Amino acid sequence: MNVHESEKLAGIMEKIGYSACSEVEKADLIVFNTCCIRDTAEKKILGNIGDIKHLKKGKPSLIVAVVGCMTQQEGIGESLKEKFPFINVILGTSNISELGEAVKEIESKRKKTYKNIPTDQMPDIEEDVPVYRTSGTNAWVNIMYGCNNFCTYCIVPHVRGRERSRRPDVILDEVKSLLDEGYKEITLLGQNVDSYNYEGVKFKDILEGVTKIDGKFRLRFMTSHPKDFDSEVIDIIRSCDNICNNVHLPVQSGSNRVLKLMNRKYTREKYFDIISEIREKLPECGITSDIMVGFPTETDEDFADTLDLVKKVRFSNAFTFVYSPRKGTPAAAMEQLPAAVKKQRITELVNLQNAITKELSEEYIGKVEEILVEDVNLKKAGYVMGRTESGRLVNFKGGDDLVGQFVNVKINTSKSAALWGERND
Ligand code: 5AD
Ligand code: SF4
Repeated sequence: MNVHESEKLAGIMEKIGYSACSEVEKADLIVFNTCCIRDTAEKKILGNIGDIKHLKKGKPSLIVAVVGCMTQQEGIGESLKEKFPFINVILGTSNISELGEAVKEIESKRKKTYKNIPTDQMPDIEEDVPVYRTSGTNAWVNIMYGCNNFCTYCIVPHVRGRERSRRPDVILDEVKSLLDEGYKEITLLGQNVDSYNYEGVKFKDILEGVTKIDGKFRLRFMTSHPKDFDSEVIDIIRSCDNICNNVHLPVQSGSNRVLKLMNRKYTREKYFDIISEIREKLPECGITSDIMVGFPTETDEDFADTLDLVKKVRFSNAFTFVYSPRKGTPAAAMEQLPAAVKKQRITELVNLQNAITKELSEEYIGKVEEILVEDVNLKKAGYVMGRTESGRLVNFKGGDDLVGQFVNVKINTSKSAALWGERND
């Protein structure tokens, strides 16, 4: 989501005459696209903003913009201005298209702009934002913005506002033109794609619409929510060759008590039911997840339930997080766990998931997989890298002429999450 937003920011800047530069010291304009989902992300961005203070001193004409969900939090705009008076413009998430005008205004008048839209007054979706795509063979396409779920740990609904679904015809037109431009993989994006709803048009209709577009390409989507995950989506994946056998289904916790406190609105039993259905109908499907440890009041038993779920489901990979209190969310007001407990639990969880990922990687050895080549391997000359349909990274010998092509590769070895192989066509 944030990567795609950065592509939009770059697109807006390109439209008013800026181009990317590889050294920050040479930049005339620096745009920070912020994230506030966890404390670590926020601290990092504050550090990064602080790091450029000297550049502004040496080059007073440098324009500095801070954009994104961090600035949508109450009071943050003011405290950013106070802490870093050299910032020229602060914008939120849904008004990023105003960045172009703001920068032009600053260029001409050296005026500071500060804009922040309250999340309950999010403007209509802007459809004409230019995009400077950086993701190679894959193109991200938003199908919706915002979130209505209010998981008690999460800041997203507070900073990105309520769900807004994009018009189906606009989504389909964007996908068609991306495929015409040569993109080979489309990833549909939303905080909760299963609740996409535009005047009765549902997510499954969008999937069906996109798969019918001519040409060889792969279709992915993220993120799915277990409370809304629709069996019909599994059936559509099964019946459509171009939808990847890959589902990202964040579970967050394996404890029913914690899931309830998180306001996730499903139980571990319901989660297992979905996994069983996916495994039964799509045996090759890669299932990935987001898992959190250290939610307030999480006991040893709750954590044991999470480990147990991870052992039973055997995710092909998972993003693992330490719970981080976010101001204004209900969980932040609950009694917090000691940092040492969180640290010990995340280490245990990461070790378990790494072991599972490694075991599942070994199951690929000897198989022939169709790989969409994404890029040359920057660490190993003469090699390229791409992904299986299930989302596994595969490296094999080849040149940059293969980028964007589908190639059959026989898997020979595995190293934790990554696979290595040779062409087999
Ligand atoms: N602390 C830690 N992880 C969080 N996530 C969301 N909010 C928090 C938080 N306060 C994680 C969830 C979500 C992923 C995108 O980020 O696991 O699925
Ligand atoms: Fe946050 Fe929950 Fe919405 Fe995901 S579904 S963005 S975790 S509130």
